[in-house]
Amino acid sequence: MIQSIRSELERLRVLRRRLPSDEELEKAPKVSARVICIASGKGGTGKSVLATNLAYLRARGGERVLLVDFDAGMANAHLLLGVAPRYDLGHVMSGECRAEEAIAEGPDGICLLSGGVGRHALVNPTRRQLDRLFRALDPLEADFDLVIIDHGAGMGYATVAHLAATSTLLLVTNPEVTALSDGYALYKRAHMVNPDIRVGLVMNRCASENEATSAWDRFRAASQRFLGHAPQYVGWVPADASVRRSIARREPVTRMDPSSPAAHAIEGVARWGPIDHARTHRPFYTRARSALR
Ligand SMILES: Nc1ncnc2c1ncn2[C@@H]1O[C@H](COP(=O)(O)OP(=O)(O)OP(=O)(O)O)[C@@H](O)[C@H]1O
Ligand SMILES: [Mg+2]
Repeated sequence: MIQSIRSELERLRVLRRRLPSDEELEKAPKVSARVICIASGKGGTGKSVLATNLAYLRARGGERVLLVDFDAGMANAHLLLGVAPRYDLGHVMSGECRAEEAIAEGPDGICLLSGGVGRHALVNPTRRQLDRLFRALDPLEADFDLVIIDHGAGMGYATVAHLAATSTLLLVTNPEVTALSDGYALYKRAHMVNPDIRVGLVMNRCASENEATSAWDRFRAASQRFLGHAPQYVGWVPADASVRRSIARREPVTRMDPSSPAAHAIEGVARWGPIDHARTHRPFYTRARSALR
């Protein structure tokens, strides 16, 4: 008995010696968060629904997740998560508060940096304003495991700077020809500014698997033909009334109704492998600042 207590004590002593001190921890280089961008060509394809659900699922899985609502000026992720942030990216951009202070907590520990509503500087930022904002967001990378950036539709200046910097993009489209065509344009642009970018495509709001597959086949064929490459097919999400209900309840559908068809499909998207490797050699916001020049 005494012998076993002694050996346990010795084991704990060895473990303790191996643990880094507070000072060592402070000095150790911090690992940057993985960063994924969620974008689309056409508006209303389901980016924010997807972004909030991915943030919820990943946070529930134990990751420290930051959702940045970069549909700046027209933000709505806070509505989808049922939080009322005091500050937003506009306050961070103008220096009224630090980025950490602007973070609001959502369900199950999701951290949200809201985009703000109706702010001109956020809708049409200058290079200098974006540079200031990226510099202010830079320290957050060390505090999270995963940063999910929800963009506004299209190829605005801020979105393109993010696309140039990110390793990983989730492109959200619908099966309609207009959404596919605008999605293709965004995909092409993303590759132009960032040839190494990894792009996964989500076909959202489909009536059936057939509809999803046939739309994907058309997208892939056009990309292969005109660009010589195509995104990875992450999967499809059915059009599901439970998504609307979850929005009315201000709760992610994967939380409110996890057995619904849409929630099942979104869980599949959240398991997309590249999300676990979404890092670049240089920190994301350093790359984003360089992309502004
Ligand atoms: N799988 C789905 N099934 C049913 N409805 C959906 C689905 N996905 C999204 N929607 C509906 O589409 C609407 C738009 O979704 P969302 O706000 O996520 O799009 P968005 O791409 O972020 O739009 P924006 O371009 O304006 O930012 C939602 O309000 C919801 O009602
Ligand atoms: Mg949106």
